[in-house]
Amino acid sequence: MKGSHLALCMLLGFSANANAAGDPVAGKEKSAMCQGCHGEDGNSFNPEWPSLAGQVPSYLTKQMRDFQSGARKDDTMGGMVEGLSEEDIADIVAYFSSQKAKAEEGELNSKGRKLYVGGNRYTNVPSCAGCHGPNAVGNDPAGFPRLAGQKAGYISKALHDFRTEARTNDVNGMMQGVAAKMSDKDIAAVAEYLSRLDK
Ligand code: HEC
Ligand code: HEC
Repeated sequence: MKGSHLALCMLLGFSANANAAGDPVAGKEKSAMCQGCHGEDGNSFNPEWPSLAGQVPSYLTKQMRDFQSGARKDDTMGGMVEGLSEEDIADIVAYFSSQKAKAEEGELNSKGRKLYVGGNRYTNVPSCAGCHGPNAVGNDPAGFPRLAGQKAGYISKALHDFRTEARTNDVNGMMQGVAAKMSDKDIAAVAEYLSRLDK
């Protein structure tokens, strides 16, 4: 009894820790319902709903686990991920992360670009590029998400949520600290810049 219990624990422990690469073909099928909001190829058609296309796998995986555990709260998403196994998550992540992010058309917002690249030394907003990358494509090993081509309304909501502490699932409060120093104008400019950045 004791032995088999131990073996089961080891098995479960193993499958929970293994970040096995998922199967994008299975992920496409398993995410049929998700595509209704996030888009068939992961490019959402509603400015308030995030695109998942081209998003870094480690970040997507963490968000889905955070919605499951309640570390990240959203009335819509909480129920969506409830029944997903670790394998389902890996497959769905493999599908969306391998799609191409489609940016909005339009001129790049120059104030947003300046803040993104260099931060603001007078208001202590750090450079976003330092973590999210010069082209805003993110950093998978570090868990920093892609922002290039993300929906402006969603970016703006995410930054307001970090600022008001409606969203607190960022490790070490990294983004809460950044957003606390941003004005509404900063948020609007950087959100527009990033949504049109085609990388
Ligand atoms: C009814 C629409 C809807 C459906 C269906 C839906 N989502 Fe979402 N999803 C949202 C919204 C809205 C958000 C943004 C929540 C917020 O503002 O924090 C979101 C956020 C996410 C995020 C976080 C993205 C980021 O950039 O942080 C992931 C990952 C995600 N959804 C995956 C899924 C998966 C996987 C499914 C299917 C199992 C799914 N969603 C189904 C609406 C939906
Ligand atoms: C110290 C590193 C760091 C810096 C600097 C930083 N970020 Fe982040 N950012 C993160 C991390 C880590 C996350 C993911 C948090 C999580 O796990 O939910 C994140 C998440 C975000 C998100 C949410 C993405 C999504 O899909 O929900 C937005 C938007 C964002 N950052 C914008 C910015 C902007 C704009 C700046 C510059 C003003 C910036 N960040 C500076 C580390 C950083």
